[in-house]
Amino acid sequence: MDKRTFIKGMTLAGASLPFTLSGIAEWITQHAATPATTLAGNEEFWLGIRSGYRLKPDYINLENGYYNILPEQILEAFIRHVREVNYEGAYYMRTVQYEKKLAMATRLAAIAGCSSEELIITRNTTESLDMIIGGYPWNPGDEAIMALQDYGAMLQMFRQVERRHKITCKVLSIPNHPSSDDELISLYEKAITPKTRLLMISHMVNITGQIMPVRKITDMARSHGVEVMVDGAHSFAQIRHNIPDLGCDYYGASLHKWLSVPLGAGILYVKKDLANTIWPLFAEAESVGGIARLNHTGTIPVHTDLAINDAIDFYNTLGPERKEQRLRYLQQYWTTRVRDVPGVIVNTPADPARSCAIANVGISGMPPAQLAKTLLEKYRIYTVAIDLPEGKVQGCRIAPNIFTQPGELDTLVAALKELAQRGTDIKVK
Ligand SMILES: Cc1ncc(COP(=O)(O)O)c(C=O)c1O
Repeated sequence: MDKRTFIKGMTLAGASLPFTLSGIAEWITQHAATPATTLAGNEEFWLGIRSGYRLKPDYINLENGYYNILPEQILEAFIRHVREVNYEGAYYMRTVQYEKKLAMATRLAAIAGCSSEELIITRNTTESLDMIIGGYPWNPGDEAIMALQDYGAMLQMFRQVERRHKITCKVLSIPNHPSSDDELISLYEKAITPKTRLLMISHMVNITGQIMPVRKITDMARSHGVEVMVDGAHSFAQIRHNIPDLGCDYYGASLHKWLSVPLGAGILYVKKDLANTIWPLFAEAESVGGIARLNHTGTIPVHTDLAINDAIDFYNTLGPERKEQRLRYLQQYWTTRVRDVPGVIVNTPADPARSCAIANVGISGMPPAQLAKTLLEKYRIYTVAIDLPEGKVQGCRIAPNIFTQPGELDTLVAALKELAQRGTDIKVK
């Protein structure tokens, strides 16, 4: 199949015929000689990948940070799993449920570069990290460190633990444009005292897309005897990394974000010797040890777990490097076009190594909610407004996906320039 026939076939297939894994594999084989950095800007290739998605034509979806909609082939596989489980009913649940879940966890551990004895499947990042925060063996007077830019659910959980276990939470603020890794490391280091037990850090800050120098921070924390918990909600399957290389003790991520698993799946990594020190969210039989004791869930939608296999196949076939390079290319495509425009404020570092798909942009003098509303109503661009206290981050989070086209980002760039210009005009008057 040549490229033209392939694209035509995919276009004709539209929503009715899912883009098959063998189709993607063949498509990628045709581009195998092209380095991922070059392929990142090859629109013909990415148009082929886009044709495997069913995209709502009403708006340009630049909010892929909440939930990555599934390519049709994963969606179809998921629906098949719903049917399979329903067909077998309790027989499925009582016979193969757990061995299948373990097989998925083993494949996830391979992607994460850790042992399968260190990783479990949860429902999402919130469950994974809140289980650590809530189940940590706190003593009154202990201290924990986190950032204002971390995710709200974890900050809330820390606040609850603060009240319940009489610990102290120290909340620092991460600069949007750090001058160096050392600036960030010293920010965290200054918050450490002899009472500090646990430090939480986002691998990728969800509201700005900034990638944090996690390994350097864990090394620093370890030198003070402080454990580190990493929020990998946006880094897992967006930027390549092995969890153990981060040097952290705990790590959580959601699979319905960048791995494109159906809604309701996540992972929790706990360094091997630490699993027995955490109080489980739901108690397991006392005879169960290791990370399995943190994985008693009750009855859950097991078909979601089964689709992890299909999502991993898709991810591996596309190739983690191709995906990461394309996502970074798309972000750089639009940010480099607006970064120096008066009135446009990009709240994400310019260095490509400090971000990937996600960036945040504001318009001077325009509240984020108004920007998000205007982008949707006037330009048909869907984003999410971010409004952190004291103006620390004010703008819209822009999160393209692998199906996003530069033409769609041109629409965003034109909208931002127009809105910034209007703001300048108003000020002149
Ligand atoms: C950094 C970060 N952590 C945690 C979460 C929570 O993810 P979930 O709702 O899947 O648990 C999110 C969600 O967007 C996030 O951005």
